[in-house]
Amino acid sequence: MTVERIGWIGIGRMGYAMAERLAKGGADLTVWNRTREKAQPLAAHGAKVAEKLADLAACDIVFVMVSTWDDVREVITGPHGLLSAGDVATRLVVECSSISLEGSAELREMLKSRGIDLLAAPVSGNAKVIKAGRLSFVCSGPKHAYEAALPYLKLIAPAASYVGEGELARIVKICHNVFLGVVTQSLAEVTILAQKAGVPRHAFLDFMNQSVMGSTFTRYKTPAFVNLDFKVTFTPELLRKDLDLGLDAGRRFDVPLPLASLTRDVLQSLIGHGTKDEDFAKLLVHHARASGLDLTAENVPVSDGLG
Ligand SMILES: NC(=O)c1ccc[n+]([C@@H]2O[C@H](COP(=O)([O-])OP(=O)(O)OC[C@H]3O[C@@H](n4cnc5c(N)ncnc54)[C@H](OP(=O)(O)O)[C@@H]3O)[C@@H](O)[C@H]2O)c1
Repeated sequence: MTVERIGWIGIGRMGYAMAERLAKGGADLTVWNRTREKAQPLAAHGAKVAEKLADLAACDIVFVMVSTWDDVREVITGPHGLLSAGDVATRLVVECSSISLEGSAELREMLKSRGIDLLAAPVSGNAKVIKAGRLSFVCSGPKHAYEAALPYLKLIAPAASYVGEGELARIVKICHNVFLGVVTQSLAEVTILAQKAGVPRHAFLDFMNQSVMGSTFTRYKTPAFVNLDFKVTFTPELLRKDLDLGLDAGRRFDVPLPLASLTRDVLQSLIGHGTKDEDFAKLLVHHARASGLDLTAENVPVSDGLG
């Protein structure tokens, strides 16, 4: 058990897998989720499940993993949020959701006025990547906040990069997810091109994954692309949020992002055709339809490379 009391807000797909590693790693952990039953299984690993969000104000360090900036604001400063507790012992908030630079700066000011440090700590990887022990954090804020959080970050993920003061981690994460969207769309396009020319998807991706263009990402999306398993890891709507954050940042910093802009529109049309509770890798099927192809699962066992 750790000496410091750790709180966790947001037990969704990511939050669950991250908090589970903290609990299994021996942290003195109290979790809260809006939909309480999703958090309940963590009790089997030693976590306490709080009745009220404000109960987490007794914790020294509080992690947050919700969806958007509005949701972060609500769980921190809303009428029933963390800061609504009369007595707040929390001295550090580690905010892991993918949010804007502006939201993050506003959060930092709100917490500062209550004497609380903020570490911006968004992540790269999905819940399966977390389970495989391959998640990475990108962090910014006061160096002492990073150092205080590091033992807990290390229980969750092997990699945590400190990129500087303020909200720098947010722009790194936004750039990362713009790249994620563009790469996924591009991989979908070339996979469909190869298939229409006669190459089975598993054979094409087997080569790509072993080529200089292969990556952890192309490997772990291969089962979805080959066998059409679109159980959600990351929703098209959350990815659209990140592309929008990227396009906003592009306007703010006067950087053209033509590929991000096109990908955002393609993703919008996937969402418009009704894909909401399936994985964003369904971009593959969307592109197949645009190419006059009806996809079927190849039913070939393929590795996701995560072990
Ligand atoms: N999935 C990925 O691969 C991935 C990878 C890296 C980063 N991210 C980022 O991580 C964050 C979480 O993603 P996720 O995939 O874990 O999403 P998710 O499964 O939809 O989980 C969202 C969590 O936020 C909670 N929440 C949302 N709005 C809330 C509100 N207003 N008040 C209280 N709780 C609220 C939800 O509570 P309920 O359970 O009650 O709905 C749930 O616990 C997002 O910012 C996403 O962009 C995701």
